[in-house]
Amino acid sequence: MSSEPAITIDTAPLSRLRVPVHLGVIMDGNGRWAKARGKRRTEGHIEGVKALRTLVELCINYGVRNVTVFSFSSENWTRPREEITFIFNLLRRFVASDLQKLIRNNVRVRIIGARSGLEASLVRLIDDVEAKTAINTGLTLIVAFNYGGKAEITDATRLIAREVAAGRLHPDDITEATIERSLYTHGIPDPELIIRTSGEQRISNFLLWQAAYSEFVFVEENWPDFDEASFLRVLQTFSLRDRRFGGVEAKLP
Ligand code: IPE
Ligand code: IPE
Ligand code: MG
Repeated sequence: MSSEPAITIDTAPLSRLRVPVHLGVIMDGNGRWAKARGKRRTEGHIEGVKALRTLVELCINYGVRNVTVFSFSSENWTRPREEITFIFNLLRRFVASDLQKLIRNNVRVRIIGARSGLEASLVRLIDDVEAKTAINTGLTLIVAFNYGGKAEITDATRLIAREVAAGRLHPDDITEATIERSLYTHGIPDPELIIRTSGEQRISNFLLWQAAYSEFVFVEENWPDFDEASFLRVLQTFSLRDRRFGGVEAKLP
């Protein structure tokens, strides 16, 4: 997709820091953070929300336009029931505690993922947050909740198949743009950078289509420890990457 020009910031001693227009974050390692401190996994998730708050502030301050955070995957349903309930309640608590501040900070919230399988009250809450922030023009915070990249592509395929079956679309007219506008992330440029914390080096079903040309930066910190210094280190690494998009010369976004 076309994207807005990326911002570069002069930050001595770092020179010319490149800031992505869309940043993806796989916030991993809450459980290990807690285990290392003799705490319950749920306490790691509470600390993870604090790190998310910090990330949102950093994105606003450094001029990231869109940030997608992976907060619950379609595969996380295999976890113990109590942990799942805790994470779902954490989303409710986050909305209750942070919605007003997000609105004040001009943040638009989108929640992407499957709505089916979620309690009706949670779906109402998600719809309400999206509606209350829809007119905001600052950072777009995209929360991937009950999200799976394969499920997203499957849902997109179903939408397109319905259009074909209804006679509104000819199969020969299906292009990459048709698929893009059928994804949960329609209208948002692809992420130039995806960060994963906790030392794991895999995508775990996150933004599969959109990550076609993303740069990946894997960091050792567990998610609750990810702070401004970590953020700046990642941006510095990203700034040094040569993005060639299949060509022979690096292209600046
Ligand atoms: C990430 O931390 C949060 C979610 C997946 C909900 P984890 O809960 O996966 O923590 P680890 O990977 O077990 O340490
Ligand atoms: C990915 O982390 C999903 C989220 C961060 C929400 P997981 O902890 O679920 O991924 P795996 O199981 O290590 O691949
Ligand atoms: Mg994990």
